[in-house]
Amino acid sequence: MASSTNTAGAPTPVVSIENTSVRFKETLALYIEHLEIGAGERVFVLGRSGSGKTTLSRLIKGRVRPSEGSVLVLGHEPSSFVRHARRKAFQHRVAMIDQEFHLVPRMNVIRNVLCGALGRVRTWQSVIGIFSSVEWEKAEAILQEVEMGDFAERRIETLSGGQRQRVAIARALMQDADLILADEPVSNLDPELAEDSLELLVNVTRRHGITLMVNLHQPRLAKRFASRVIGLYQGHVVFDGNPDGLSTESEELIYVGPEQEIERRGGQEVSYDKPATTLA
Ligand SMILES: Nc1ncnc2c1ncn2[C@@H]1O[C@H](COP(=O)(O)OP(=O)(O)OP(=O)(O)O)[C@@H](O)[C@H]1O
Ligand SMILES: [Mg+2]
Repeated sequence: MASSTNTAGAPTPVVSIENTSVRFKETLALYIEHLEIGAGERVFVLGRSGSGKTTLSRLIKGRVRPSEGSVLVLGHEPSSFVRHARRKAFQHRVAMIDQEFHLVPRMNVIRNVLCGALGRVRTWQSVIGIFSSVEWEKAEAILQEVEMGDFAERRIETLSGGQRQRVAIARALMQDADLILADEPVSNLDPELAEDSLELLVNVTRRHGITLMVNLHQPRLAKRFASRVIGLYQGHVVFDGNPDGLSTESEELIYVGPEQEIERRGGQEVSYDKPATTLA
């Protein structure tokens, strides 16, 4: 768990974003005026398709550069590493689980989990797949924790979606990540299984003291599992608070958009071209 402090002795936030935008040509995909995420928070990000959820995760992971502004993750600028070794070390502290899981289908479960340790072993070891007995034992213990202990030798391609999701969680734990970004991790699962899988993700991250950010389409699940909910509308934060505060009105704000703005524009959807300071 990230537990460093700044010079004033206050805990350093895991994520700190200031006046930052992400533009893709003419599209303003994201504008964040100020966002801090502290260690151990479970942040669920809600928003319509295209509202900027994935872009926010990719910005934090360093897969997309800010067009302007400042992004600090675990005290580093994620997209600014010049040296490969430093970038690799940072990447391993931030794990990403998305709906595809990105496991190796023909490899067995435990080897996929061991891939999470690749940031710690030497390059020649990773090339030929040699891991220490300590790493093997750790991978086995993690598989037990995600209730996949009996599946260690099974190939990924023989597993169900829910089982693959557990392997993806296990690999993130094997990474010793401080932050897990889960981008619609349960969208390919049936509703009951989705709830169980999210519960597992929340429980293991809580146990390991890992900060969690989940992008999701179901407010009900956010209310159940989040410690904090962020609502995005057209790339802008329109809700940021306790899940208990997620009322019908705030869900409308997130999914329909700021009403007064829509009315003011004669029922047209809002098209932001500048920071939406009026929305906070
Ligand atoms: N690589 C890209 N090139 C151009 N436009 C992009 C790119 N990535 C995202 N966008 C645009 O940025 C906006 C935000 O997209 P993003 O994928 O972050 O939305 P999202 O909230 O994750 O949506 P969904 O719920 O459908 O996954 C959209 O208008 C999208 O078309
Ligand atoms: Mg997305």
